[in-house]
Amino acid sequence: MNGFQLYNTTRLVFGKGKVNRLGELISPYIDNILLVYGGGSIKKSGLYNQVKQELASIGATIEELAGIEPNPRLSTINKGIQICRDKNIQFILAVGGGSVIDAAKAIAAGALYPGDVWDFTIQKATITQALPIGTILTLAATGSEMNGGSVITNWETNQKRTMGSKLLYPEFSIIDPALTFTVPRNQTVNGIVDIMSHVFEQYFSQTTSTPLQERFAEGILQTVIENGEKALENGEDYDARANLLLAGTYAMNGTLPTGVEADWATHVIEHEVSAIYDLPHGEGLAILFPNWMKHVYQERVEKFVQYAVRVWSIDSVDKSDDEIALEGIQATRDYFTRIGAPATLSEVGIDHSHFERMADEATQFGDIGYFKKLTKEDVLSILHASI
Ligand code: NZQ
Ligand code: ZN
Repeated sequence: MNGFQLYNTTRLVFGKGKVNRLGELISPYIDNILLVYGGGSIKKSGLYNQVKQELASIGATIEELAGIEPNPRLSTINKGIQICRDKNIQFILAVGGGSVIDAAKAIAAGALYPGDVWDFTIQKATITQALPIGTILTLAATGSEMNGGSVITNWETNQKRTMGSKLLYPEFSIIDPALTFTVPRNQTVNGIVDIMSHVFEQYFSQTTSTPLQERFAEGILQTVIENGEKALENGEDYDARANLLLAGTYAMNGTLPTGVEADWATHVIEHEVSAIYDLPHGEGLAILFPNWMKHVYQERVEKFVQYAVRVWSIDSVDKSDDEIALEGIQATRDYFTRIGAPATLSEVGIDHSHFERMADEATQFGDIGYFKKLTKEDVLSILHASI
C-alpha cells in the first residue's frame, strides 16, 4: 500500500426530506447567492419552488443562472462568472446533476480569478481562491457532490478538460433519494455505468496489498449492479435509489484511492470522444471500458481473475486465468447491454474519422494510465476495437 492523505471537507446531509435543512446550512451566506441549475428538470419536479421557498424563508437574496448543459460549456460558465462579478455573489448553490455541480465549481473558481477560467484546466494557473458552493444533488453518477473536481467543455476548441482543488469541495451536499425518482431511464443507466467506471479506474491498479480498498471497491460494484437493476425496474424504489446515490458518492469521495495508484485512462479517452460528439459521459464509458479491460488485463491477470470471481461469481474450476479474466470482462459487457447501455461507437453514430485527433489529445502530455501506460497507438487500438 502507498502512503496517502485523505482530507474531505464536504458535509453530506442524506435522506428523505433533507432539503428542509437548506436554510440552516446556507445561513452563513444569505447575501447574494447564485442559484445554478440545468435545463428544467428541477422546475418540473417542484424542487425549484421548494428551494426558492427555503431561501426566501431566511431572507436570502439570490440571482439565477439556468440552462447548464449536460457536458457543461465554458461559454455558460463565463456567463455565471460575469454574474458573480456584477452582483458581488458570495455563495453558489448548485441544484442538479454532475454537470450543474461542475459548472458551479468552475464559476466559483473563475469568479475570483482575473484571467480565463480555462487556464485552470491546462495547468496555466492554479486555483488559489474560490467562492464557497453548496449542492442539492438530483442524479446518482459523478460523485462531484463530495469532491473537488470539475469537468468542463470548450465547445470552440472541442476540448473537455478537468480542473480540481481542495477549494472546490462543496461546503455541503444535500442528497434526498426521492429527488432522483424522476431521473429518466437512460440517465439512470448512464449514472450506473459512470459509478462502476469510477470504481474500475481505482480498482484496476498495480498497487498490491490493498485488501480493504479492494473489498470497498467490490462492495460498491455489487451494490450498484443489484440496485441499478432495481431502480430501472421501479424508478420510485427509494432504497434502490438511495443505495445508488451512496455508492456514487463513495466511489468518488477519495475513499477508494487511499494508498492506491489509480488509472483514469478510460476517462481521459472518453472525454476526448464527448468533446467532439457531445456524447453522454456514461454512454462513452459503457462502450470503451470493456475494450480497455481486454487491452490491458494481461498486465496483471490475477486482479482481473479476482474481479471476475468476486464481483460476477464466475466459476473458476478447470479454467485458465485468461479464461476467467475474459469471462469477467464479458460479464461486464453483458450487464451494460442488459441495462440498455450502448456497446459500440457505431451505435451512437460515431465513426473513425476523428480517432487520430482523439488519440493525439488524450496523450498530449505523454502516456496515460497506470495499470498499463497507454501510448497513442494503444489509445487508437482501443478506439478501433470500440467501433
Ligand atoms: O438539465 P436538467 O434539466 O436538470 O436535466 C438533467 C440532464 O439533462 C437530467 N436530470 C438530472 N437530474 C434529474 C434529471 N432529470 C430528471 N430528474 C432528475 N432528478 O439528467 C441529464 C444529465 O445530467 P448531468 O448533470 O449531465 O449528468 P451527470 O450527473 O451524469 O453529469 C455528467 C457530467 O459530469 C462529468 C461528465 O464528464 C459530464 O460532463 N463528470 C464529472 C466528474 C466529477 N466532477 O467528479 C467525474 C465524472 O467522471 C464525469 O467526468
Ligand atoms: Zn465518470
